[in-house]
Amino acid sequence: MIISIIVAVDEKGGIGFENHIPWHLPGDLARFKKFTMGHHLLLGRKTYESIGSALPGRQMIILTRNPEFKAPDCITAPTLDEALTLAENAGENEVFIIGGAEIYREALTLADHIYLTLVHTSVEADTYFPQFDQTAWSVICEQDFPEDDQNPIAHTFKYLVRE
Ligand SMILES: NC(=O)c1ccc[n+]([C@@H]2O[C@H](COP(=O)([O-])OP(=O)(O)OC[C@H]3O[C@@H](n4cnc5c(N)ncnc54)[C@H](OP(=O)(O)O)[C@@H]3O)[C@@H](O)[C@H]2O)c1
Repeated sequence: MIISIIVAVDEKGGIGFENHIPWHLPGDLARFKKFTMGHHLLLGRKTYESIGSALPGRQMIILTRNPEFKAPDCITAPTLDEALTLAENAGENEVFIIGGAEIYREALTLADHIYLTLVHTSVEADTYFPQFDQTAWSVICEQDFPEDDQNPIAHTFKYLVRE
């Protein structure tokens, strides 16, 4: 099973502020939907609360250490290993780690692919993607998206594969 991270970061690595994503880029959300549709998504409990509900067409596995935590149409798991095993046993071929920072930090050493959107701005952030050694990754494709009517910030999408 391929383990993929999908994330959008600003120029300082910021990914979140007060438990939300600090920009609105419909083009990037559409890409997120296209890549993740039909797959298992692993996410931290705080990111689930930020999204607020299960995303249609995808099985969400929420990581939480609270055995009482329940969310409609989602599975919970107490460790990353258990969450990955649940996805693999369900026949998943590519699982997506969708954040937040705590989950990215733990998953980064295991990940095979990163779907990375670089948002060309510097926002107020309180949550950051972990530093990682970009020389250990090959850029398979890279595409620039200028600011437009729908997407108020220019951004670059990169698809990285571990060397
Ligand atoms: N820009 C992006 O692409 C992007 C993507 C996703 C999220 N975000 C942003 O990131 C922020 C949230 O990130 P965060 O780091 O604060 O929180 P998070 O990673 O979403 O969730 C943290 C919670 O996950 C659970 N958890 C973490 N590690 C675990 C483990 N090893 N085993 C079991 N449970 C574990 C714990 O839940 P319990 O406390 O319930 O035990 C912990 O409190 C938000 O601002 C969100 O908008 C941005």
